Amino acid sequence: MQLIDTHTHLFLPEFDSDRDQVILNAQQNGVEKVLLPNVDGSTINDLLKLVEKYPDYCYPMMGLHPTSVTEDYKEELKKTEIWLEKRKFIAIGEIGIDLYWDKTFKKQQEEAFRYQIDLAKKYDLPVVIHARDSFDEIFTIMDEIIDDKLKGVFHAFTGDEIQAKRIIEWGFKIGIGGIVTFKNSGLDKVVHNIDINHIVLETDSPYLAPVPHRGKRNESAYLLNIAQKIAEIKNISFKEVAEITTYNANQLFKL
Ligand code: NI
Repeated sequence: MQLIDTHTHLFLPEFDSDRDQVILNAQQNGVEKVLLPNVDGSTINDLLKLVEKYPDYCYPMMGLHPTSVTEDYKEELKKTEIWLEKRKFIAIGEIGIDLYWDKTFKKQQEEAFRYQIDLAKKYDLPVVIHARDSFDEIFTIMDEIIDDKLKGVFHAFTGDEIQAKRIIEWGFKIGIGGIVTFKNSGLDKVVHNIDINHIVLETDSPYLAPVPHRGKRNESAYLLNIAQKIAEIKNISFKEVAEITTYNANQLFKL
């Protein structure tokens, strides 16, 4: 059964000692493609090296992560733009606002987010949005900039049903990962109540490993545990979860 990990950082140093094995594990567990969101200027080389090694398996995104936004964010944005001119990327990501770790650069994060939405429009690419303790800020900006053409995903979604419905109304997808397997996350109820046609799967490796690997390094092979949990919550077959979420990902990212 074929799955797509729509959000995995396999180029990070956490995988330096066994990256090829991690890719093999993913392939052996039915993960047919992995999509790689960039972090910042310091990660671009490693990201593209991995894509070069596995060109029909790893698909790159380009963008500046909100937790990497500081005073020099305009310099960082320039680096992403240079690369967008040079080669093909499947999305602008990951971008967004994160007020959980640090609020110091809130204004800069908002500016970088808006700027990268404009890049997505310019290059006709979907956006991969990271929203942590920032739904209100993100939704305010989204209401201003949303149009019929802009598409994307709210990655590692942890919001409530009302927030999920707003995202779906914009034609965006909901990225579901390991958190759905955590006891008391409450995400199972939200997933139960939203149509699977709006869901894509992700691991966010090396972070947020699903049960039974919780607390350990995450890897794309564990997408299997996430898909199984969604099948259980929605009381449908694993095959159906795989088919529909893979279709959703292929459509959104034009793979
Ligand atoms: Ni991420």
